[in-house]
This record gives sequence, C-alpha cells and structure tokens, in this order.
Amino acid sequence: MEYSADILRYEEKILFKLRTLYSEFGYKQYRMSRFEEYELYAGNKAFMPSGDILTFTGVGGKLMALRPDVTLSIVKYTKDDDELKKLYYNENIYRSDGVEFQEQMQVGLECIGEIDVELTGEVLILAKRSLEAVSERSRLDISHMGFLNGLLQCENTSIAQRNEIVSCVSERNSSGLKALCTEYNLSNDFCARLITLSSLYGAFEDVINELQKLCENDEMNDALNELAELNNELRVHGITQGVNIDFSVVNDISYYNGIIFQGYIEGVPARVLSGGRYDELLRKFGRRSDAIGFAVYLDMLEEHDTTEAETGSKMINIALPKGRLGEKAYSIFEASGYGCPEILEKSRKLVFENPEACVRYFWVKPSDVAIYVERGVADIGVVGKDILLESSPEVYELLDLGIGKCNISVATGKSFTPGCHEKTLRVATKFPNIARRYYQKQGREIDVIELNGSIELAPLLGLSDVIVDIVETGQTLLENNMEPTELVADVSARLIANKASYKFNHNKIVDLCRAISQER
Ligand code: PRP
Repeated sequence: MEYSADILRYEEKILFKLRTLYSEFGYKQYRMSRFEEYELYAGNKAFMPSGDILTFTGVGGKLMALRPDVTLSIVKYTKDDDELKKLYYNENIYRSDGVEFQEQMQVGLECIGEIDVELTGEVLILAKRSLEAVSERSRLDISHMGFLNGLLQCENTSIAQRNEIVSCVSERNSSGLKALCTEYNLSNDFCARLITLSSLYGAFEDVINELQKLCENDEMNDALNELAELNNELRVHGITQGVNIDFSVVNDISYYNGIIFQGYIEGVPARVLSGGRYDELLRKFGRRSDAIGFAVYLDMLEEHDTTEAETGSKMINIALPKGRLGEKAYSIFEASGYGCPEILEKSRKLVFENPEACVRYFWVKPSDVAIYVERGVADIGVVGKDILLESSPEVYELLDLGIGKCNISVATGKSFTPGCHEKTLRVATKFPNIARRYYQKQGREIDVIELNGSIELAPLLGLSDVIVDIVETGQTLLENNMEPTELVADVSARLIANKASYKFNHNKIVDLCRAISQER
C-alpha cells in the first residue's frame, strides 16, 4: 500500500521533516516513558519553565510524575562515559499554563559529551533549519550567558539583586534597570552598559562594535570570541539571514552557561523553539560531560494567518486602555506622528485605523491590555505598571510613558496598631500576587483577601487589618480615615510589546519608541 503525505496533519508533516533532518545529521531517536520519579524534578525546578508538576503515587508507593520535561530524563538515563551522544526525541510533556495542565508535543535534540564550536554550530544550524521547515520567515535569536554573567561580575551584587537585573534585561526594561541601579547604588557606567546590552538586537556584524565596547573581563571576551566563531560557522553553512544577537534571551544561570537561543516564526506570538548549553545541569548530576540541546514546541505551530505580513503593509496594532489614561496615551502617540483622527470622534467604535501612519488602535479594558499584547493580537500596548507587576506577562517593557503616575501602598485605618508578627496579617487587595511577594520578602505570613474594588472598605468594616492598593491623590484614604504606611511600588503607564512582534517589526517599533521618547 502506498502512503500519501496528504493524510498527515500539519504538525505531523513538520514532525516528519524534523525527524528526517535530525537523522541526516546522525542523531538517533531516544524513546522514554512518560512517567518519571517526582524527585528528579523536585530538585531541579528552576530548570523548567513551569513549576507545576502532575504527580501520582506509583504502585510501590513512590511519588511519580507525568514528565514535564524531557532533557532531565535524557541526562538521567544516558551513560556517563566519554562517548558523544547525539539524540533526538519526539515526546509529549505535561505542563501547567497557570490555569490548567496541558499535554504538549515537543521534538528536539540533545548532544551530550565534549561540545566544541563546530558541534555548537551544528546545533544552531539545526535549530535554524527546524524553524525554516515551518516557515520562510523565522528568527533565531542568540545570547550568551557568559557575556551577561561577565558583565554582572563588574559590580558587587547579591544573587537576588542579580536575578532582578536579569529579569529587567529579559524585558528590555531600561527604566527598570535604572531604578534598580539607583536602589542598589550601582555605578552609572554599569547601568548604561546593562541598558545597551538589553536594547541590542541585530545581526552579529551589526552589534559587534557595541559588544566590544561592553567587554570588561576575560569571561566577556571569551563569550564574544565564541559568538564570533559561531557566526562564522553559520556563514560557512550558508545561514546569513534571520539570525540575531539578542541578550533579552536569558535562562537560569545555575543551569545554563555558554550560548542560549530562542526561535520565532512570524505570525506565532511566542517562541516556538528554545535551547542552549547546559553544562551546569550535568555538573549537578556529577557528570563531566558538556551538553547542548533545544526543543521545538510543535503545538504552537498550528496553521496561522500571515496574509497581512506577506503583503509587507503590516500595521502596528496598538492596544490602548479605555478611559482617561488611554486618552492621554493616545495624545502622546498623536504628537509623535502616529495620529488616527477618527479615534477622537464620539462613537462606540473600538477599532480605528490610519493606514498612512501604519497604525491600528483598539480600546480595551485596562486590565486586559497585557493579555492582548502577550497573545500577539496587539503588537504593542499601554498598561499600568501595577498590572504588569500583578500578572507578569511575557512581554517587553519598552518605555515608561511617565503618565498615570501613582503608587501601590500598604494602608490602614488611623486607629490600627500594627500587631506582632505572631498574628497572621489580613490583607485586602486587588493585587494578590504583589501583596504576597511584598510580605514574602519581609518573611511575614499573610492571609490575602482578594477583592475587586472599594478596597478601603475592608479595614473599615473589619474584613482586613490592612489593604495593599493604588494611591493616586490619597483622597480616598483621607476621606475614609485611613493612611498609607508603606510604599510597595511606584506605578506609571508603560509601553509594552509582544516579543515576537518586536522581532518581526523591529524597525517600526524602534522608530515609534524613538519618536515617543523625543516627543516627551
Ligand atoms: C483606585 C484605588 C483607590 C483609589 C485611589 O480605585 O483602588 O480606591 O483609586 O485614588 P486616590 O488616591 O486618588 O483617592 P478605582 O477608582 O480604580 O476604583 P475601585 O475602588 O473600584 O477599584
């Protein structure tokens, strides 16, 4: 019987292309059970993107898990010898998306053994070819943990401070970096270097000069040399397009060293490929070998609409928060040359276009802006820092627009006497995650009472001891006989961008940010 490729689903066709590709390069398929001892993940949670793990009790009473990750199992079961292992896999994994557990199909490869530049280059080539098997318009963005780590060594910082800095670098958040450097007394020069690093995006040849200027120590020089060698490897193998240096690509420093990378295809709002050099994980298993690998997230590759992108006339979709803040934000866009006069007419319309300025605006509920941007329906958006702090969306935070200024504070009734730490503090708030993080830092146990509005009522009626809420003029607190007692965070409106949109519309988004920065 003849088989026709027509009977295959879209992701199955991709899967066969990838398996063929990896086999041609000498990679052998690795099969494994979907069940694994929970202990393997419990000790390595930071290695996986999601901390939630589906567990069950095995027949022998052992705590087992439905595998949330493939790499850890491969490392666990491969022999600790000198032989180079080149493996590929095609397995389902079980991870939570924050709401529910999902079964996701991954295909990927791992090299375990002695990893030289040539082999690293091969893995990068295979990563790029994997993306090209899916779409003609792809980006492979490469970063180097050694370079970032080298820069972080230039000033004295604690691990917690470094993690905060790395998180801002991953968000391209220059205002956040400035705030952290001020708070931790770090030098202006160090701050400027971090900002440069976080904003770089381009082909190796286009960013090499900037990177050279940032080099301060051997670790950074070695990393830059490796990037240069890898760039050569890619060129020798004919890969000259769609590979960029991007230090917003970061991973956990205790597992990853050397290069790390992510892949995007146009029309899909989040990364579809992720990988890197993870020698440190091998060390945690007591192994001498090095390791590098990547995974492709096949479920994200469902057919997507690229018609607008194909015409080359793609408009920048901008989500604005309905209300006063959105109107102020629009006037900034307008003054920067991105006007759309129809938006000012009185109507109930929600979508407005100005093809000449290549912009399409839509009004959305303020708390939904980040969702529209994270999901890529909007390329960019304007959102309060309070919402970003509360929901931590996977977006870039490009500009502090300096409007909608207020703060999040702890406040309480004037008659409230702060009790001793033995009593669980009852905290009423619209921001449960912010409140939990704030008190966790202080090591104080709290009982979060999540409310949707009129938070000030809670202590007045005895529902809570304190509130964690927005204070703008302070009038609401004053009129209800309350006062702010501790500042949790300053808030203002931020310009955010979808990570994939930023890469595929880089010039348009950077021009827009520049125009806005000049205008203010
Ligand atoms: C916010 C916040 C405070 C008030 C603070 O409420 O929750 O209640 O504004 O502003 P002020 O310091 O200028 O008095 P919002 O108006 O969003 O309504 P809500 O109570 O329904 O959340």
